[in-house]
Amino acid sequence: MCGIVGAVSQRDVEGILLEGLRRLEYRGYDSAGLATLNVDGEVTRARELGKVAALADILLTRPAPGPIGIAHTRWATHGEPSRINAHPHMSGERLAIVHNGIIENYQELREQLRSEGYEFTSQTDTEVVAHLIEKYYQQHGDLFKSVRSTLDQLRGAYALAVLHADEPDHLVVCRQGSPLVIGVGIGENFIASDQLALLPVTDRFMFLEEGDIADVRKDQVVIHDQEGNVVDRPITRFEHGHDAADKGEYRHFMLKEIHEQPAVIQATMAGRLTDSHVLEQALGTQAGQLLENVRHVQIIACGTSYHAGMVARYWIEELAGVPCSVEVASEFRYRKHVIQPDTLFLCISQSGETADTLAALRQAKKAGFRAALAICNVPGSSLVRESDLVIMTQAGPEIGVASTKAFTTQLTALLIFTLALARHNGLPEEKEAEIVQALKLVPGQVADVLALDQAIVEMSEAFVDKHHSLFLGRGSQFPVALEGALKLKEISYIHAEAYPAGELKHGPLALVDSEMPVVTVAPNNDLVEKLKSNLEEVRARGGQLFVFADRNADVKSEDGIHVLQIPSVHPITAPIVYTVPLQLLSYHVAVLKGTDVDQPRNLAKSVTVE
Ligand code: G6P
Repeated sequence: MCGIVGAVSQRDVEGILLEGLRRLEYRGYDSAGLATLNVDGEVTRARELGKVAALADILLTRPAPGPIGIAHTRWATHGEPSRINAHPHMSGERLAIVHNGIIENYQELREQLRSEGYEFTSQTDTEVVAHLIEKYYQQHGDLFKSVRSTLDQLRGAYALAVLHADEPDHLVVCRQGSPLVIGVGIGENFIASDQLALLPVTDRFMFLEEGDIADVRKDQVVIHDQEGNVVDRPITRFEHGHDAADKGEYRHFMLKEIHEQPAVIQATMAGRLTDSHVLEQALGTQAGQLLENVRHVQIIACGTSYHAGMVARYWIEELAGVPCSVEVASEFRYRKHVIQPDTLFLCISQSGETADTLAALRQAKKAGFRAALAICNVPGSSLVRESDLVIMTQAGPEIGVASTKAFTTQLTALLIFTLALARHNGLPEEKEAEIVQALKLVPGQVADVLALDQAIVEMSEAFVDKHHSLFLGRGSQFPVALEGALKLKEISYIHAEAYPAGELKHGPLALVDSEMPVVTVAPNNDLVEKLKSNLEEVRARGGQLFVFADRNADVKSEDGIHVLQIPSVHPITAPIVYTVPLQLLSYHVAVLKGTDVDQPRNLAKSVTVE
């Protein structure tokens, strides 16, 4: 949700912190701040409402020199977005702290600290932690010990980084439920919520485990686990290219990421398919054993990843003949479940850090689900580390808050998984070969759809002055319609709802008039004739239809129907291809409306709090 970054070096770290924040802005962006400790032992703090650029402006006139510092980009949970609620928070003039996460018992701690004379200047839960550490510092005179004593008092999920002017040579950092990574440099070390923040300064990383506390100095990092033992966490090298946080020739990250789809779908297939079948072992050495005798698949995810799960349900039931349930993580985690025997638990998450998805996974493990499979885009994320089997998507870092390439690579990975599972459940070899062939055509078909960009720009003009819209799809295209509607509302703020086209007559038809554009995806499958009747229902009520249709589906532009023809695709892979024009439509509507495409209001890329 929020992003934190820190550095302990021999050089001034202000620039490193600002660049780190810029790269973390996808996690939160209602305010930003940093605190550095200079060589005279003084803490300089700068905070500003708004984006990192606003903070950078302040630092131009009032720089924050010093070789050690912490910084934060915020997505408000406790207290409105404002300068006083922005991090770092301080206790007195000498202790500063940044925090990502939520302290659940902060009210009672706040009351207690108030009664002891501590004054609060913000409405945040974080300030409680600052005072608590300072209180213990009075007793221990040792920052590391004070942080440990404080953690014993906290309930919730957090990653913290703390500096103290009396101990000018180190940061103390910890993680419990929120991500934190240590970047290892030469004569300097760094910390951040995400490796991406630190790529300009290092490509070597240590991942803290749940409950770890680390003492980070310029030439040494010492990590203690929850029990207080000194532990080694392996150093791994970052795998992706360094230019991922760069927009290149594109106006927005979202557009860049939409255009990367042919390449990243290809990369997600690479090494996992022959001409005729899925290489099961490429999914992991235990894949064969874990996929044997699966009697039920339970998919858990949030947001766009949930829509990927909904598409996968159609595939899993159709191709593998295995019953499949899909549920959003925030619902799943708070209800009692009936666990069917031999259920494979499948979490889908771009970031691998979504709090609700992780909580659901941990609960499922306790409840005794058979095994946990993850489809994830971030190596080293909590989800990856806590699952039995992982299929990595190869989307590369996704910066735009509205997910695009993560979704289509998730679908690619899910179809590969489905074929592997289906092999254990009697899918004929020829059918597997047919779908593998179809999948291999997808990158080219997506590129063909991207070439329709100009026609989609023209279509988007009809949406700019609208307040509501409907998206329709049938079968596995219904989740595609849901995803299309989500994209439009996320970035253009136009209210968009998706329905299975057959449900139209049970309510939403009442809303249809000339002010309600109706977007429909119409591949040439066995439901296309039924879909055409649904379109007539809309047309008869004066609705304006915008249809993305297979060029052989015989849906033509006429009064009230604007058709954009899509190349013919296999019905199984159609959800991947048909997602792309809907992404472009939302993008162009948002650009015409002038909204903040990459960082839409009120949303965060990675939701690591509940
Ligand atoms: C946030 C993002 C969405 C994303 C969802 C789940 O809401 O804005 O784009 O789909 O989280 O994230 P995950 O990383 O678990 O896929």
